[in-house]
Amino acid sequence: MARANHLGAGLFFVGSVAAMAWATASSAPVARSWMNTSLSPDQRATLVLKAMTQDEKFRLIRADFGQPSQGRAMPPGALTSAGYVPALARLGLPALQETDAGLGVAKADKSGGATSLPSGLATAASFDPQIAYAGGAMIGGEARKKGFNVMLVGGVDLERDPRNGRNFEYAGEDPLLAGTIAGNAVRGVQDQKVIATVKHYALNALETGRNTLSAQIDEPAARESDLLAFEIAIGIGHPGSVMCAYNRFNAVYACENDWLLNTVLKRDWDYPGYVMSDWGAVHSAGKSALAGLDQESAGEVFDPTVYFDQPLRAAIASGAVPQSRVDDMVRRILRSMFAVGVIDQPAKAAPIDFAADGEVALRAEEAGAVLLRNEHGLLPLSGSLKSIALIGGHADKGVLSGGGSSVVYPPAGNAVPGLPPDGWPGPRVYQPSAPLEAISRRLPGKVQFNDGHDVAAAGQLAAHADVAVVFVEQWDAESFDRPNMMLPDNQDALVAAVAKANPHTIVVLENNGPVNMPWLDQTSAVLEAWYPGARGGEAITRLLFGEVAPSGRLPLTWPKDESQLPRPQIPGAGLASIGVPPQGQPADTVDYRIEGADVGYRWFQRQNIEPLFPFGYGLTYTNFGYSKLQAKWENGKLTVAFDVTNRGARDGIDVPQVYLTLPGEKQSRRLAGWSRITLKKVATHHVEIIADPRILAEFDATEKNWRRPGGSYHIQLGHSATSFEGDTSVDLPAATFSARRSHASP
Ligand code: BGC
Repeated sequence: MARANHLGAGLFFVGSVAAMAWATASSAPVARSWMNTSLSPDQRATLVLKAMTQDEKFRLIRADFGQPSQGRAMPPGALTSAGYVPALARLGLPALQETDAGLGVAKADKSGGATSLPSGLATAASFDPQIAYAGGAMIGGEARKKGFNVMLVGGVDLERDPRNGRNFEYAGEDPLLAGTIAGNAVRGVQDQKVIATVKHYALNALETGRNTLSAQIDEPAARESDLLAFEIAIGIGHPGSVMCAYNRFNAVYACENDWLLNTVLKRDWDYPGYVMSDWGAVHSAGKSALAGLDQESAGEVFDPTVYFDQPLRAAIASGAVPQSRVDDMVRRILRSMFAVGVIDQPAKAAPIDFAADGEVALRAEEAGAVLLRNEHGLLPLSGSLKSIALIGGHADKGVLSGGGSSVVYPPAGNAVPGLPPDGWPGPRVYQPSAPLEAISRRLPGKVQFNDGHDVAAAGQLAAHADVAVVFVEQWDAESFDRPNMMLPDNQDALVAAVAKANPHTIVVLENNGPVNMPWLDQTSAVLEAWYPGARGGEAITRLLFGEVAPSGRLPLTWPKDESQLPRPQIPGAGLASIGVPPQGQPADTVDYRIEGADVGYRWFQRQNIEPLFPFGYGLTYTNFGYSKLQAKWENGKLTVAFDVTNRGARDGIDVPQVYLTLPGEKQSRRLAGWSRITLKKVATHHVEIIADPRILAEFDATEKNWRRPGGSYHIQLGHSATSFEGDTSVDLPAATFSARRSHASP
């Protein structure tokens, strides 16, 4: 029953076509010529296809829900998870066992547990493709050891609103950063012989009304923003699959959107893998098939009917859909199975080394937590403090996770069970990595805890301590958005009271993303820890005590408040079961034409407004300076070179960022590249960054091609998207590229 309300109240359908008995395929033995590994994945897929019966083909193009639901028994052979396609034993094809999701194995029966990475936003904040790869390899490895060979990982919808309940599953607001991070996570997963699934294609940037909401956007804006993030992620990661989204895209459902699936994904990007639907995102048989959908997910539970069975067979019989389209679906699925290795090296149950995997989660959080404020160098904390008050956020028990299909159950169980909501998108899970325990290990006998419910008592405890650390939290989840950026549960009053009582107050945020911080000026330090993952308490402690240098940089713009956003209101946002009742009805459309491709920092630049913290911002315990900036255009490449010097007295990590402005554009700075470097105190390092060529072009809606305008490109070397140390310009010749400029193949 855990997934009964998977689609949110009122939008749930029970399949009217019961799971049909699968007609047994011919038992005639086949010579498995496709097991010849010297053939290409395409050749092998074609050989299997030739040997398949129509029933076998139809069995591959729909996955069942992988767990019992609403009186429907668990499909025999499924592993209690998101999706399942039975093995085709006659052909030697293993079952497809599909598990969520981007932060770890979200196995729904909660048995065994798995290691949770911190939020996708933390990984993105590392600006480190290797951290993303290592996280992907870790969770992909756990998936494989639990018997899964498809992982629904690779969230890359751009952050267009800090209130979107799923931001924590994604990689921020910038297409180059998000695409690079998601693409490397996918690479990590697939190197474990597990198919990854870049999602949710496309513009699934709000949860409110997501099953019908139409994302309105113009073609150039889409191509230069969200679609660019997908294009980059697919180019780097070569995911075996792409998941089409719930929402409509310019009025047409994403999973039956010919332009999104056939034109952009399969033609322009030459994508050879398969498109799977989101769970409950299919609305037709023939239309979806013709538009490019290749596999229906859990239709018997989440769609009004299983479209990719009888209705599609009927469409083929009537000639509305050619048989070749079904063959193409099957060939694509098989091709990904061969390309990723799930047939040659089938997943096998194996023990998991949770200690080693926990280290990967620890490193990701250490690299991705962002130090937002540090007045008078209060941090790092000294080991000689005499007393420290820890307050709120269940810091005595663990660290918070975001909710919904991606939630990862810790092997040791939920550290704070029983918090609302009772059902979907709960449970609210805490990873058992308590900051209290980790900090007490550094300062035995000197740490006192108050749970923060009694604001006055918390203030009193803080008043008598050298330092107060307040943990504040905001539980967000798939299926709803927050109506505003306020911290829930009176936590603003708590922080204000503690900060009033103790001038050395540090705030640690465990949240989905930007919140209002009316108390900011009264605090000494603020650390954005996101949802910190399996070893979050330890990571936060190591950062606070300077055992590692904070090095995360914001992968999104932190607005001062909702009024700065392109759309100050989200009609119908909220979730009654956590005490945030929705006001009004969800809208039918969301107008992304307002900001177009100017997402996040580009919107703030265009509007000439100052956010609270800019994209790319983050402090550390030393500081860095830039010099000798040079840019040159040579052999068709824009190279930006400069020196970075650690000007402080501690070793540290810097993330210098290169932004460029195209000729003729005054208000549209774009991140074109960055570097993440570790530097000893006073050391200098020479850096060269090659601007991503896709950032240098604009999409021409009339000619349907990409154009790099000729002229002078303004280059700025940034500590963030608004703070620069050095600028220069370089002339580039004009060029035109076809819409099919990048050809990705797994
Ligand atoms: C989510 C997907 C998820 C799927 C399977 C859907 O509700 O949108 O991200 O992979 O469920 O659980």
